[in-house]
Amino acid sequence: MPLDTQDRGTPLVEMRNMRKSFGGIHAVDDVTINLYPGEVVGVLGHNGAGKSVLMKMLSGAYKRDGGQIFVNGEEAHINSPRDARQYNIETIYQTLALADNLDAASNLFLGRELVTSAGLVNDALMEAETRKIMARLNPNFQRFHTPVAGLSGGQRQSVAISRAVYFNAKILIMDEPTAALGVEETAMVAKLIDELKAQGLGIFLIDHDIHQVKALCDRASVMKNGRLVGTVKVDEVTEDDILGMIILGKQPEKGMA
Ligand SMILES: Nc1ncnc2c1ncn2[C@@H]1O[C@H](COP(=O)(O)OP(=O)(O)OP(=O)(O)O)[C@@H](O)[C@H]1O
Ligand SMILES: [Mg+2]
Repeated sequence: MPLDTQDRGTPLVEMRNMRKSFGGIHAVDDVTINLYPGEVVGVLGHNGAGKSVLMKMLSGAYKRDGGQIFVNGEEAHINSPRDARQYNIETIYQTLALADNLDAASNLFLGRELVTSAGLVNDALMEAETRKIMARLNPNFQRFHTPVAGLSGGQRQSVAISRAVYFNAKILIMDEPTAALGVEETAMVAKLIDELKAQGLGIFLIDHDIHQVKALCDRASVMKNGRLVGTVKVDEVTEDDILGMIILGKQPEKGMA
C-alpha cells in the first residue's frame, strides 16, 4: 500500500520501518520516510536524534537491523556503499571528501579516471567534461587549474556535487552541506540545490537551520530520540511548528504530509 495518501506516483525512495541500535541505544527506531523526484526532504532533529544514522543506512555505510528500502517502487538490497551506488544514491558529506592537492577535474574523476585509447589518463577530456558539468551547475566557476584546497567552501561543494551528478546520482544525501559556509557560499549551495531539483534529482537534506529548511525543502521529516515525530509540508507549517516538533516532539495540527 502506498505510504503517501496523495497520488504522486512512485517515490524515488521509500524507507520503511528502519531500525538501528548501537548497544542498548536505539539510534533509529521504526522510522518510515520517502522522497519523490525533484523534491527536497529536510531531515531534522536535535544532535543525536538519528538523522545521520538513518541516512547512512540508505548510503550503505551502516547495515540496518530492520526495515526495508525501496527505490522506484522496487525493494533495494543496500548493504554497502557500493550497493547504494548501483541505485544511483550518492552522499555529499558534512566534511567533504576531496583531495586537497588536486584540481576540480582530478577530484571529479578521482578513482574513475578517463583514459585515452592508449590507456593513458586523459587530462584534456576530464577537464572538458568538468567544464561541461560546471557550466550547468555552477556557471561562475572558473578556477579549473587550482588545487581544491584553494577554493571556497561553496566552490568545493560544487565540485563534490558535480562528481555525484556526473556519475548519474538520482538520489542525493546532503548532510549539513552549508554548516561551515558563510552567507554568500550558502546562497551558492542553495542555488545548486534548486538546479538539482529542476533536473529531477531527489535530495535528503540534513540541516539545523530552520530558515534554510523553509527556503529549500518541500517537506521535512523530524526525528527525536531515534523516532520519527512526523513529516510536514514545509509551506503549510510555521517555523514554530517545526521547532515544536524538534524540541517537544509535538505534531502540528495541520500541515502533516
Ligand atoms: N558508530 C556509532 N557507534 C555507536 N553509537 C553511534 C554510532 N553512530 C551514531 N551513534 C549514536 O546514535 C545516535 C544517533 O546519532 P546520529 O549521528 O544519527 O545523530 P544526528 O541526528 O545525526 O546528530 P547530529 O545533529 O549531532 O549530527 C546517537 O546516540 C549516537 O551517539
Ligand atoms: Mg549527524
